[in-house]
Amino acid sequence: MGSMLIKNAKLRGDDTLKCILIEDGKFKAIEEVIDAEADQIIDARGNLVTPPIVDPHVHLDAVLVAGLMTRKNITGTLIEAVGIWNDWAKGLTKEKIKENARKVVDWYVANGVLRVRTHVDTTDPSLLGVESLLELKEEVKDLIDIQVVAFPQNGIYAAPGYYDSYVRALEMGVDVAGGAPHLELTREDGVKAVEETYNLAEKYGKLIDIHIDETGDPASRFVEVMAKESINRNMGEISTASHTTAMHNYNNDYAHKLIGNIARAKMNMITNPFDNSVLQNRMDGYPRKRGYTRADEMLDRGVNVAIGHDSIMDPWYALGKGNMVLAAYLFYHMGQMTGASQVQQLFDMITVNSAKCMHLDDYGIEIGNTADLVIFDGRNEEEIIRLQSECTHVIRRGNVICETAPATRQLKYKDETVDFKL
Ligand code: FE2
Repeated sequence: MGSMLIKNAKLRGDDTLKCILIEDGKFKAIEEVIDAEADQIIDARGNLVTPPIVDPHVHLDAVLVAGLMTRKNITGTLIEAVGIWNDWAKGLTKEKIKENARKVVDWYVANGVLRVRTHVDTTDPSLLGVESLLELKEEVKDLIDIQVVAFPQNGIYAAPGYYDSYVRALEMGVDVAGGAPHLELTREDGVKAVEETYNLAEKYGKLIDIHIDETGDPASRFVEVMAKESINRNMGEISTASHTTAMHNYNNDYAHKLIGNIARAKMNMITNPFDNSVLQNRMDGYPRKRGYTRADEMLDRGVNVAIGHDSIMDPWYALGKGNMVLAAYLFYHMGQMTGASQVQQLFDMITVNSAKCMHLDDYGIEIGNTADLVIFDGRNEEEIIRLQSECTHVIRRGNVICETAPATRQLKYKDETVDFKL
């Protein structure tokens, strides 16, 4: 497989530039000076070198359909998007689902995203989406690691057949048991759905990642049930609560108690800045709140919180290009994550925190790990988020799989190019 030497690499949390030696697809040495021969030498020129970027929450079965649909989301709400999706998904073929998702895989690679967790709708009894994404996962495994979540888009008890197709999806070999308890018909069914998800995850040996309290309704309180199940069964570290946007609107006494229980359970949390900016609190009028979970409060209390992309050009959110640095940029503003240490946390939220949500081992620039990494066109986390820097090199198992030449801007009124870096 050959060898590679990366020189002048700025690693996170390390003030001294390092050399990184890769042999046979693994990190072999990380030192200030390495005098080794290598088949390929790359000069990182003092730029930040990080483990691959992670997207722990996307829906690859729905990507890119926004531009194809004849029926647009007029209200822009989540509920209308679900309705459009339910109609639209009936016409999708396996070829089209895979073609769209495959294109997004290329976008992810170009953006340095080499670990992805995708949800896939299980309420369609044909389970075409599940079949498509399980096939795709295998087909692209040399480029990117994908986890597949069985996601009952409309709940498991809200209509006949939903429960059965959800269980069949778990039996087809997905990695993660998902859910949507806030979309069950009653509070009682939602509680039962969370409990049953834990039962099934135990039975089939799955991780857990539930869409939960994805609404502006402050009465939606299903995360507390996840925390209870995680504590009682000691399953918090493999459990992730996605969205939890209702937490934005909880009263502070209840939120304080809940976050304590989430921390005690050692659960993982995911906020999705693109979708959460546009889908929740649509009924508010003004003042217009947003559907962000309490990421800063949870991080301060030791909870693992990550950022997901969620939608890429689908009925829920029509923009997006698989760029997690852009998601971090958005959350810098909307989550008020502007303190110096919070900028570091933002970068954690698209790397190590997300890797923890996905329960990944073999992640990180450490000797013996698989040599996956990204070289940015930027010297530190703040600069990269500020400029939304490109990844000049994306390296998978010791091979460069994408190279990007950053744009140059030639001023015509003087003989200079523009440099946004100071
Ligand atoms: Fe989602």
